[in-house]
Amino acid sequence: MIHLEFFKQEHLSGVSYALDEHQMRFTATAQQALQSISERDDDDAFPVTIFENGTPVGFFVLDFGKDKLELTDNENSVLVRSLSVNPQMQGKGIGKAAMLRVGDFVKDQFRTCNEIVLAVNQKNDSAYHIYLQAGYIYDGKTRIGRSGPQYLMYKKL
Ligand SMILES: CC(C)(COP(=O)(O)OP(=O)(O)OC[C@H]1O[C@@H](n2cnc3c(N)ncnc32)[C@H](O)[C@@H]1OP(=O)(O)O)[C@@H](O)C(=O)NCCC(=O)NCCS
Repeated sequence: MIHLEFFKQEHLSGVSYALDEHQMRFTATAQQALQSISERDDDDAFPVTIFENGTPVGFFVLDFGKDKLELTDNENSVLVRSLSVNPQMQGKGIGKAAMLRVGDFVKDQFRTCNEIVLAVNQKNDSAYHIYLQAGYIYDGKTRIGRSGPQYLMYKKL
């Protein structure tokens, strides 16, 4: 059973897993993302913990800051970034379930938000696959990210 909660310090050890060099090309670790939010004193970024059966197993950030406007003109959207699942728990459907659930989580917590946007590296087959399965749409928009071309995807809420 997967559920989502806003990140709390008590989840830190559960989301402090390492990613290998290959996966680090595609995302920030939870620790890196949390550090960057705290350094920038970023009030627009909301870290979220993914739980499986009550245990923290993954992480992502809901970012309402200006970066989303590189992907969309919609001011009422949110950017999902820095998604990861603990490597020991990958391949069990957790990432897909979390990306299916994030829409309701956003609608419950941020009433005016009506779209989720994200960017995924074109070589990141498993991530692209879960986003498609979770109803995110790629309609031909791309950009160059830090590790090469990315598909820009969205889901209307
Ligand atoms: C991407 C990530 C979050 C997925 O989480 P997960 O819990 O492992 O994903 P799931 O188990 O829900 O689903 C994986 C799906 O990808 C599929 N998959 C795996 N490798 C694949 C590949 N090379 N090509 C296509 N599909 C692939 C699996 O078959 C599975 O799909 P299925 O349910 O239809 O069988 C996780 O792998 C991760 O943390 N990766 C590193 C960080 C990252 O890339 N984040 C995304 C940044 S945009």
